[in-house]
Parts: sequence; C-alpha cells; structure tokens
Amino acid sequence: MAQPTHDWEPTSWRLRKAAQSPTWPDDEHLARVERELATKPPLVFAGEARRLQEHLGQVVDGRAFLLQAGDCAESFNEGSADAIRDKLKVILQMAVALTYAAGVPVIKVGRIAGQFAKPRSDAYEVRDGVTLDAFRGHIVNDEAFDAESRRPDPDRMLAAYHQSVATLNLLRAFTTGGFAALSRVHAWNQEFVANSLEGKRYAMLADEIERALQFMKACGIDLHDDSSLQGVDFYTSHEALILPYEQALTRRDSLSGDWYDCSAHMLWIGDRTRQLDGAHVEFLRGVANPLGLKVGPTLDVDELRRLVDVLNPDNVPGRLTLISRMGHELITEKLPPLVGALRDEGQRVLWTCDPMHGNTFQASGGQKTRRFDDILSETSQFFAIHQSLGTWPGGLHVELTGDNVTECLGGGSRLGEGDLDFNYTSICDPRLNATQSLDMAFHVAEFLQRYSADSGARSL
Ligand code: TRP
Ligand code: MN
Repeated sequence: MAQPTHDWEPTSWRLRKAAQSPTWPDDEHLARVERELATKPPLVFAGEARRLQEHLGQVVDGRAFLLQAGDCAESFNEGSADAIRDKLKVILQMAVALTYAAGVPVIKVGRIAGQFAKPRSDAYEVRDGVTLDAFRGHIVNDEAFDAESRRPDPDRMLAAYHQSVATLNLLRAFTTGGFAALSRVHAWNQEFVANSLEGKRYAMLADEIERALQFMKACGIDLHDDSSLQGVDFYTSHEALILPYEQALTRRDSLSGDWYDCSAHMLWIGDRTRQLDGAHVEFLRGVANPLGLKVGPTLDVDELRRLVDVLNPDNVPGRLTLISRMGHELITEKLPPLVGALRDEGQRVLWTCDPMHGNTFQASGGQKTRRFDDILSETSQFFAIHQSLGTWPGGLHVELTGDNVTECLGGGSRLGEGDLDFNYTSICDPRLNATQSLDMAFHVAEFLQRYSADSGARSL
C-alpha cells in the first residue's frame, strides 16, 4: 500500500490559490454540476493507472520510451469517429518506427479524452474596445468573440465528460479490435514511405522493419495470430487544469485505498500552474496517478527539487514525468543543470521532450505557428544533452492531428507562411499534420539509433 498522504483530501486544494481558473458566474450552478459529475462512472480505472505507472518506471530505467501525443486542445466540434481514428493511426505509425529504433517498448499515451482546457496569458481579450473573458477551452467557454460564448458555463464540464466517454470507448475498440495490429500499422508506414516525398528518406528503415517481421515469421511467429502483435495498450492524459472537474472524478480505489483521479490515466501540471503553494500542486500530490510536470525555462533547480519532493516524496520510478519545454534557443543552456542535479541526487524521474510549446511565434499573417526545423532542433538537442549526461532521453511529447492541416511551417512539404490559412483548424496551438508527425517520428528514430550506438549496445 502507498504511503498515506498527510493532510490531504480531494477538497484540500480549495484552500489554495488556483491560477488560471475561470471565474464561474454562478456558484450554485457550478456546485450542481460538480455533484452530478461525482455520480458518474469513472473514465479509467485505478488498476490501469497503476499499470501505466509501472510502464513509465521502465522508461526511467531506459527499458522503454514514452510517446505522448494528441491535440493541443480537443474541440467539441471535432469528436467524430474519423478524426479520432486518424489521430490514433498517426500515433501508432510513429510508435512502430520508434519501437524498432529504440529496441524497447514504446508506451503510448494520448493527449486525448479530456484535453479540453487551456491556460491563457491574459484573463481577458480585447477586440475593438470590447473586453470579454479569454477563451479557455471548450470545457469552460467557446472561442466565438461574443459575451454569451465567452461566459464560463459549468454545463460544459458535463459535455466534456460525455465526449471523453465516447472518445475513450472508441479508442478502446480501435486498440484491441484489429485496427492496431502491427502488420497493419507497418503497411501504413510502407505506404507513407512509397507515396510521399518526405517518406522516401526512410525507405531503409521501413525495409529493415519489413525484414525483422519476415524473420519473426520465419521463426514460427504468426504475425496475424500472436496476441501481443494484434493490439496495443493505449493510455489517456490531459492537463489537470479545471480542478472542480478533476475533483468530481476522483475516487478511492477499493483495492489499495488510494485516491485516483479517474478522468485520465495520467495528469500533468502546466508551466503556469506549478506554484508550490498553489491549488494544482496541492490537488495532484494527493492522487496516485502517474503525474507529469511541465518544465519551462523559468524553473530553477531549487524550485524543481522542491516540486519533485512534493510530487514524488517516495522517489517511485514512473510516478513523475518531467516534460521539458524550453524552446530550441534555450534548451542547451537551461536543461542540463536540471537533469544533472536530479541525476546527482538519485531522483528517479522520467525526462521527456515537448519541442512544441517553447517554439511558438506569430506569423506575419497573425496566425500562431511553429517551425518544423525548430521542433526538430530542440528534440535533437534534448537527445544530445542526455547523451552527454549519461541519462536516458525518455520520451517525446507532441501536439498533432491526423488531418492534413496547415498549422506548422516547413517539414517535407515545405509549408510556407502563405499556406497557413489553407487549412488552419486548431482552436489553440498549431499542430503537426499527419505527414509532419511521421517525418518527426522517423527523425527521432534516427536519434534513438544514434543514442544506442554511442552508448554501447544493450543486451537482450
Ligand atoms: N503490442 C506491441 C506494442 O504495443 C506490438 C504492437 C502491436 C505495436 N501493434 C502495434 C507497436 C502498433 C506499435 C504500434 O508495442
Ligand atoms: Mn498547446
């Protein structure tokens, strides 16, 4: 049984300041929704969250790699079966390339089935002299710029719950029902390699995977029957931002007696809500789910140490994932001291690279965008840093979609600023499209191969 968490209750965050929280106009309405949510079935189960934590523990030891990917913010208008399927498809395709290159299992975690809330730099938005609440994601309000749409509405928490239920139901079916079979996903990758310009570079890697599969077959493993090849474990995650929602879905596990936030397997704390004495840290320290913490360039070693102590006091591998989001210009200055300090203290944390959030800028047409080359550069520096410190570059955290959007610049198709308006559908940050995501995965596959070559071969 886990250590008892002292002086913690699912409600204890309410005594602290919750940064980035909407001002709900009607307290009674909010309370009614919280009561209703508290009667709903959990989205995920404690045993699943524990299993994820064990897998993440293997990542800490360099025996697995984490792929966490999905939307910046899910939309109430984009929950179609096709959209979910296409997103999952890309994540699985990335996972195959990474599994082959890393030579260890890839733990697949979606930013999905609950990723509805956004922190904002300004609480208000002004247009033409009119001031309204900022858009905080569909779990809070709507992006249209009028008073009615921007008013925080607690009923949206119920809608978010129901969309998450539907999304998760589909994910569970897709990941166990044949769609995720290894031979099938590999065939999609071969298509990408054969039919796209950026894919051509990876013909060799895809051929190697093909030969590995042939070899397994020759050894007597039936690729279409062996159960470990027919499906995947897929986990959900989101930023735990809207605490009334998270608290309402928090339940005590009957087996362990521990509290689990059953809105997702893994929850993370954003770079803007990680105050040591704040409500978000207080809430999350008390739930037994695996946690993420975004680590941006303003976090110094002392504060990180204290956060690690509060969030993972027993130094359990897999409990805490540190998601570095420094930006390609700062990572080589900012990240090494943090990784080095925790390494020297024997802290068993997982380091993963979010190369998206430190690389956002405004294009000349006003759209928020990111350059593929900056994203790749930050990731490559992340690997080099871990190589030189002798630590394991444990994972990749990206914002992507399966659609053919035009939100990030560059990549194989050389998307330019003039192309951004062509299909820009994100309600928040710019995402990699399907092609850019695969391109990214094959690059990271090369980083992983180089890392293991330089670190000496691991034994089987
Ligand atoms: N079950 C294994 C895994 O998850 C192998 C596998 C089956 C797989 N389908 C896959 C791996 C799709 C990546 C993508 O690793
Ligand atoms: Mn984002």
